[in-house]
Amino acid sequence: MRKQRLVVFSGAGVSAESGLRTFRDADGLWEQYPIEEVATPEAWQRDPRKVLHFYDLRRAQVLAALPNAAHRAIADLEEWFEVDVVTQNIDDLHERAGSSRVMHLHGEITLARSTVDPTFVTPVNGPSLRWGDRCPLGSQLRPHIVWFGEPVPMIEAAAERIAKADLLVVVGTSLQVYPAAGLVHYLHPAAALHLVDPMDPPSGMARARHWKQKASAGMPALASHLISALSDR
Ligand code: APR
Repeated sequence: MRKQRLVVFSGAGVSAESGLRTFRDADGLWEQYPIEEVATPEAWQRDPRKVLHFYDLRRAQVLAALPNAAHRAIADLEEWFEVDVVTQNIDDLHERAGSSRVMHLHGEITLARSTVDPTFVTPVNGPSLRWGDRCPLGSQLRPHIVWFGEPVPMIEAAAERIAKADLLVVVGTSLQVYPAAGLVHYLHPAAALHLVDPMDPPSGMARARHWKQKASAGMPALASHLISALSDR
């Protein structure tokens, strides 16, 4: 029998217990750093050093962080399901936990890209991307991040994966940022939908089974549930 297709759609909450702050919870990142000062093309035009500094802090924290039980539970599901992770996170904790197919909708903090040739993407060696670090064409490198107001290049590929999924697990996202938040609507009505988040979901998620827990407890519990349901098939 073919393995069922399971998509995990994750947000900042899955990495919260690895010590990485979320964006919109109390004391979230956007409270301390206004979006329009650090995460838009206009911010980059106005004050690129400030933008580089903001992402250097994020990169240093990611490099120091470790995957938690939620990332590991998601990776372990590959033994039982055909798993695709679609994440809004810019950290690499899903990969480090062992997930083999991870799509980063909003970019990756460990990568930089050219400001004249968006296809030139290169690893950042260490925590800092500096003013003066240039691509082979001589232009300043920028963080490989999708900023507010920029297109999300992976959105169609992500929608296709979700449209074909037998199960969708949404974990640790406030579902406030589009187009990513709209992805859940591509799920087939007959497919199972689970949500892991300590907070109540937006109204569009009414049909989800809600695991109202933190990810490090909720994700392993949900994984056990999904695996034991396989033997009932
Ligand atoms: N376990 C699971 N969920 C948690 C935990 C936890 N330990 N702690 C917080 N959460 C939940 C919150 O209840 C909230 O629903 O994680 C979610 C975090 O929401 P946001 O801070 O809005 O993060 P996210 O949804 O990933 O943001 C989407 O917005 O700012 C942009 O580009 C950024 O990718 C990000 C996007």
